[in-house]
Amino acid sequence: MSTETALCILAAGKGTRMRSDLPKVLHEVAGLSMLGHALRSGDGCSPSRVVVVTGHQSERVADAARHLAPEAICVEQSPQLGTGHAVQMAAPALADFGGDVFVLFGDTPLIRAGTLDAMLAARRAGADVIVLGFDAAVPGGYGRLILDASGGLDRIVEAKEANAEELAVTLCNSGVMCVPGPILFRLLDKVTNDNAKGEYYLTDIVALARTEGLACAVVRCDEEETLGVNSRVDLAAAEAAWQARARIEAMERGVTMTAPDTVFLAHDTRIGQDATVEPHVVFGPGVTVEGGAIIRAFSHLEGCTVAKAAIIGPYARLRPGAHIGEEARIGNFVEIKATHFGKGAKANHLTYVGDAEIGAGTNIGAGTITCNYDGVLKHRTVIGERVFIGSNSALVAPVEIGEGAMVGAGSVISRDVEPDALGITRALQENRPSFAAKLREKLLETKARRAQK
Ligand code: UD1
Ligand code: MG
Repeated sequence: MSTETALCILAAGKGTRMRSDLPKVLHEVAGLSMLGHALRSGDGCSPSRVVVVTGHQSERVADAARHLAPEAICVEQSPQLGTGHAVQMAAPALADFGGDVFVLFGDTPLIRAGTLDAMLAARRAGADVIVLGFDAAVPGGYGRLILDASGGLDRIVEAKEANAEELAVTLCNSGVMCVPGPILFRLLDKVTNDNAKGEYYLTDIVALARTEGLACAVVRCDEEETLGVNSRVDLAAAEAAWQARARIEAMERGVTMTAPDTVFLAHDTRIGQDATVEPHVVFGPGVTVEGGAIIRAFSHLEGCTVAKAAIIGPYARLRPGAHIGEEARIGNFVEIKATHFGKGAKANHLTYVGDAEIGAGTNIGAGTITCNYDGVLKHRTVIGERVFIGSNSALVAPVEIGEGAMVGAGSVISRDVEPDALGITRALQENRPSFAAKLREKLLETKARRAQK
């Protein structure tokens, strides 16, 4: 018996109720398309083949699938005649495949990888067809799993075909199945569309398997995992469920979250042990935060790394390509983009640093701007170690400030400053003795005169 696995992801549906130009399976949960989530649930069983069945906006879905999983084979289902017919479209791509095929739905993003492992274990324990079931609070339109006297799965009855007794069953079909490829396609050849919807039901393979004397079993999961998205309201519910799960996982890995419900993570957020995330922090995709770092309230991070013991925020924005070194400090209303920010360096207030290199121990004063864009091209600012940039300075890139140099507050620096030098472009200061006192006297006189009129 082959121990290989393959994924067959059904993604042909139109998703009318999403009311969207974007195909349903490309809508995102935690910054990753639902199709991506389905592929990721399947990753855990190291599939040697991945087939995605597309239909509605086929090319667009196929492009996305190949981008997410370059090895994916995309097959088109047109017209869409039911879930059984959809899986049949994958038959040519899996003709020579002897291992287990997982059928997943592209609009069901919360299936855990561990759940598929449990299904594989049930396969290894001897059953031929494994169906993922759950106890539904409201069974509604779900297919019902009808068990036999010994607890095996006898058949699946779609809600539209079910009698009153069957409708009373709360054990429902999630849609996920695991079946050896040769058995799956042999059974599908026998499925007809002689039913209420006139569709080829994948679910009919269970009863067909039983007539061949094959064993069918149910593996159960939480209802939350099987949440399928059909509308924007469902999408928000899936997002909420995903976030709740990810926050708990982060805390279980040793991340402190003072108000977890207000923190939003992305599908690939990595936060190390003993990091702290304060309230109202949003992580876009591609963020790694090392242990011991503190992300203070109201910060927004995407495509960046934060090294250990650095402190970010409150109210900081780290954009793609920001790499913040150990023990560095990025304070309030500071935006960093495409910049290596050295160990222990600081930008504590009201600053934009983009396309730059900041040396270790450097201090960037309040209101500093790297002027990285001339309206056409982007340019780099390179600042050495232990530099002091005075407040309200404009650093006009391309420009280099050597190590140990200083820039006087309020300067516009457009030429390089050599190491240990002071760069300053301010107009010279003039002090006029007693001038202020005399001026004030005059102004007060004027005010008094106007009040008399
Ligand atoms: C299906 C199951 C039902 C189960 C429920 C769980 C069948 C016959 N019924 O019903 O037992 O309780 O899911 O949510 O399988 N799709 C295609 N091509 C098609 C038809 C569907 O790719 O021709 C895709 C859809 O895009 C979707 C998935 O298959 O991702 C499920 O289809 P859907 O129409 O939602 O099936 P249900 O009626 O919900
Ligand atoms: Mg459905």
